[in-house]
Amino acid sequence: MTQRRILVTAALPYANGDIHIGHLVEYIQTDIWVRFQKLRGQECRFFCADDTHGTAIMIRARQEGRSEEALIADVREKHIADFTGFHIEFDNYGSTNSEQNRKVCHEIWSALRDAGLVHEKEVTQLFDVQENTFLADRFVKGTCPKCKAPDQYGDNCDKCGSTYTPADLTDPISTLSNTTPEVRTANHLFVRIEDLHPFLEEWTQSGQHLQTEVANYLKGHFLGDPLRDWDISRPAPYFGFEIPDSPGNFWYVWFDAPIGYIASTLEWCEKTGADFDRWWRNPETEVHHFIGKDITYFHTLFWPAMLKTAGFNLPERVHIHGFLTVDGEKMSKSKGTFVKAATYLNHLDPACLRYYYASKLGPRLDDLDLNLEEFIQKVNSDLVGKVVNLASRSAKFVADTGLSDSYPDDGGLFEYAASRSETIAAAYEVCDFNGAMREVLALADRANKYWDDQKPWELKKDESRQAELQEICTIALNLFRQIIVYLTPVLPQLSEQTGELLNDPVTNWEQAQTPLTGTLVNKFQHLFKRIEEKQVQAMTDEAKAEAEATATEAAASEWNDTGDALTQEPMSAECTIDDFVKVDLRVARIVAANSVPEADKLLQLTLSLGGEERRNVFAGIKSAYNPEELVGRLVICCANLKPRKMRFGTSEGMVLASGPGGKDVFLLTPDEGAVPGQRVH
Ligand code: 2FM
Ligand code: ZN
Repeated sequence: MTQRRILVTAALPYANGDIHIGHLVEYIQTDIWVRFQKLRGQECRFFCADDTHGTAIMIRARQEGRSEEALIADVREKHIADFTGFHIEFDNYGSTNSEQNRKVCHEIWSALRDAGLVHEKEVTQLFDVQENTFLADRFVKGTCPKCKAPDQYGDNCDKCGSTYTPADLTDPISTLSNTTPEVRTANHLFVRIEDLHPFLEEWTQSGQHLQTEVANYLKGHFLGDPLRDWDISRPAPYFGFEIPDSPGNFWYVWFDAPIGYIASTLEWCEKTGADFDRWWRNPETEVHHFIGKDITYFHTLFWPAMLKTAGFNLPERVHIHGFLTVDGEKMSKSKGTFVKAATYLNHLDPACLRYYYASKLGPRLDDLDLNLEEFIQKVNSDLVGKVVNLASRSAKFVADTGLSDSYPDDGGLFEYAASRSETIAAAYEVCDFNGAMREVLALADRANKYWDDQKPWELKKDESRQAELQEICTIALNLFRQIIVYLTPVLPQLSEQTGELLNDPVTNWEQAQTPLTGTLVNKFQHLFKRIEEKQVQAMTDEAKAEAEATATEAAASEWNDTGDALTQEPMSAECTIDDFVKVDLRVARIVAANSVPEADKLLQLTLSLGGEERRNVFAGIKSAYNPEELVGRLVICCANLKPRKMRFGTSEGMVLASGPGGKDVFLLTPDEGAVPGQRVH
């Protein structure tokens, strides 16, 4: 068989957030597929990178008071640690903010220009003056122009479903600064993708490159009409690459993100001396992208159009998967099911999730549900109960003798499992990992039945039957090893441990065809532990606690409470509840307010505590309030303060207010519903 040359990518994660178990559906799926290809002897390479550009990253860096470069360097380290933790192995992990990416962007841009596809148009957008940035739709909220529902995003209303542009919102507000944005116009560059319509029709509908449901979706939603021009530039300020022939404009993040696939390859070629054109400009190379269904549009219309225009390889296949749900619902921070990769790894073995996802992944776009109950049950019963147990029960009996020198008669079990090789491989090839796992587990069932039928634990007691015992164990360990070869793409670490146990590393799919004989068997190390429910509970508890901590932090930073007031007037010494209750605070209504002509700062207030109860109070609030605006208003007063004689009369209490004084005095008012005379507790 000729060796295939396969270049694989997974979607580039944004450099402004952590990897979570939702992302891992894709990275685990892709890693399994790559490992499968490598095990089959194909020349396969896996490239990924951080997706570093765009407004979100620019804003987050500003909020954190550091440069974008510092932010993305930090996130990169975390991403790499998460991927390593889950045994996701890239041949190169690049960054879209690299010189390699800039270079390839230039090249593709020149090709688009040369093909006459780029033209300029004026675009009107909302601009946040305080944050000095144009606002993407998701950074604007306001009242729906149709149904008047408040608090709707800039592109569509989730109450009535109507779509509009942010400028159509009544009272638009920037979610970045809580200020009202301005309408501004700027020149943007557009790619006239419609010129490639016939090519895209052919490419998407050929049946070769896309799942049928994706091809149909594109036909139904986009290809029936002329394709809309693609707005490819953003005016400064923007974190990204400035467009060389359009100073002050930057490539939109979705232009340079997929180019990151090529740039990561280029970086790898520079490091290893590999020939770049052999990977990206050669009809014999198959390019495979793995992505989630939310970014279908970019990868199946714009991206092939860009590649075609610039003469790069087109994707052989775009593999599209659905989203993750947990216990049947969207991941939820409050339920603790929004679990970051790092949080998972604090409690559980990565192999468990790899196996569970594999057992649920099919070639279609269905969402994948992580049912936590089933997760525990499946890992324990399949991996521990059926697979690992085969080795743990048999290896100890042959620790001294090793495997028999020739493979004994097993009634055709090994041969049968060997004959399933191509069926299992075919399932892996089309990403039907669920099908592959079912096949392999059926082999494990047969092996376990063999073991139980032989009752080797009884032979152990009979000195004269030790040779027979060695044969049974040789068979069991070979059936185990065969299963492990088939599971190697999913469980690389278990595969490595198996290699160590049997003194023969698993390096090739073909090893499932020939039994191992005559080798020593090493002392059995624990390969894999059962999951306990409390581990899963501890993981979701931690995820919940993290989410609560972040929510508190986020709220504090959104309100931007500086702490200056506290610094200016530090806290008093501790008091007891008994001290506190001595002060009788009451709701009161201001029924009369007059200026005291002899005093600069004072207003004379008459407070009603309800019924006939009145207090005459002199309050130092003249610079901040006009007497007329106060009449009728509810305030809080200290009603049992010892009366104090002043030059103008007796003050019989105090109204409560905050602030340093002068114009900055802020009266306290109870919420609606409070009535005069109520005590404040
Ligand atoms: O949706 C996302 O998370 C993007 N960062 C994916 C980019 S994939 C590719 F185009 F770079
Ligand atoms: Zn509406």
